[in-house]
Amino acid sequence: MNFELTEEQLAVRDAARDFAQTELLPGVIERDENQIYPKEQVKKLGELGFLGMMADPKYNGGGMDSISYVLAMEEISKVDASCSVIMSVNNSLVCWGIEKYGNEEQKEKYLTKLTTGEHIGAFCLSEPEAGSDATSQRTTAIDMGDHYLLNGTKNWITNGGTASTYIVIAQTDVDKKHHGINALIVEKGMEGFVVGKKENKLGIRGSDTHSLMFTDVKVPKANRIGEDGFGFKFAMSTLNGGRIGIASQALGIASGAYELALQYSKERKAFGKEISQHQAIQFKLSDMATQIEAARLMCFHAAALKDQGKDYVKAAAMAKLFASKAAMDITVEAVQVHGGYGFVKEYHVERLMRDAKITQIYEGTSEIQKIVIARELLKR
Ligand code: CAA
Repeated sequence: MNFELTEEQLAVRDAARDFAQTELLPGVIERDENQIYPKEQVKKLGELGFLGMMADPKYNGGGMDSISYVLAMEEISKVDASCSVIMSVNNSLVCWGIEKYGNEEQKEKYLTKLTTGEHIGAFCLSEPEAGSDATSQRTTAIDMGDHYLLNGTKNWITNGGTASTYIVIAQTDVDKKHHGINALIVEKGMEGFVVGKKENKLGIRGSDTHSLMFTDVKVPKANRIGEDGFGFKFAMSTLNGGRIGIASQALGIASGAYELALQYSKERKAFGKEISQHQAIQFKLSDMATQIEAARLMCFHAAALKDQGKDYVKAAAMAKLFASKAAMDITVEAVQVHGGYGFVKEYHVERLMRDAKITQIYEGTSEIQKIVIARELLKR
């Protein structure tokens, strides 16, 4: 066990921190308020190699380890969680999914553009009636010989409007239940594919979340990822890694809020001294810092297991469960430390509190994480 970060990992963390402070912080309040997608910032993220961090350099990826990814996600999320969810979906769900399970042709055609940000990816599993219960797919992909005919609706899709490459999960053979589900790469512009309404959200308002409609979309067989019927396993396996990304996002939201609260507590005076000198505030800061330390170690643990090729399903689910709860608790307390100032937008903590909530919902709710963890615990 080694708790030291390497020079390379520290350099990635510092680069992400610099980027967040110089490129994301200015304008983050306005983007949140007006639901503005951080287009320029995402372009720069791509140029800096943050959109395909772990992908092989031969596909234009950064060839970095998952610890570096956790570090970068934390730094970006401290400042702008809208930006970090774009980054997380692109890295962990779309790039990783295609690199791990796609064929060479798919990697050449799609992955090489997704890693640089020339294309942005979206992962389309959720439906109006299939969120947590992901096997209940209503979207169908009927086998027509050389192509699939795709019909259905997807909901709450991150990067839904801005993506060019969509991984769509759909049912081909109902009788085979989840073994009859496929994962298809769908391109924006394919006939019959329409981007639906943009959601007006509580948090991560700069990210672009849409419903998607597919009507008789012809998707070539060459765009199926893996063998026929592999789609559900593909989704589950990809989400296992995605949960490390969202756990790190939650960690970043929590540490961003904590740092603001710590700073504020040293500036604000009440009853004749800085509020950091009151035990009521010190207890809050101690609880926050302890939860953050634990969440960070859990993210590192899951990431290290993944990098070592070991089973990380339980560790990733635990990290997400813990870090997302910590993010919610810590952001609420950070608002409390700020008092009235915490309730207004200029102080950032109210946004972080709103952003924290989604980390307990997407890529598997906290309740789903408990199911995943329990199944791993009870495995024979
Ligand atoms: N890893 C690998 N395989 C898994 C798995 C996991 N974590 N969980 C289940 N599977 C496999 C099972 O082994 C099983 O395969 P076999 O039949 O071949 O053995 C198959 O998947 C079906 O599993 P279950 O019988 O356990 O299915 P279930 O219906 O009882 O439960 C579930 C499955 C774990 C609850 C699953 O539906 C689930 O994870 N739901 C949550 C979905 C989710 O995370 N959605 C997030 C949307 S994406 C998103 O949010 C992205 C974004 O934009 C930010």
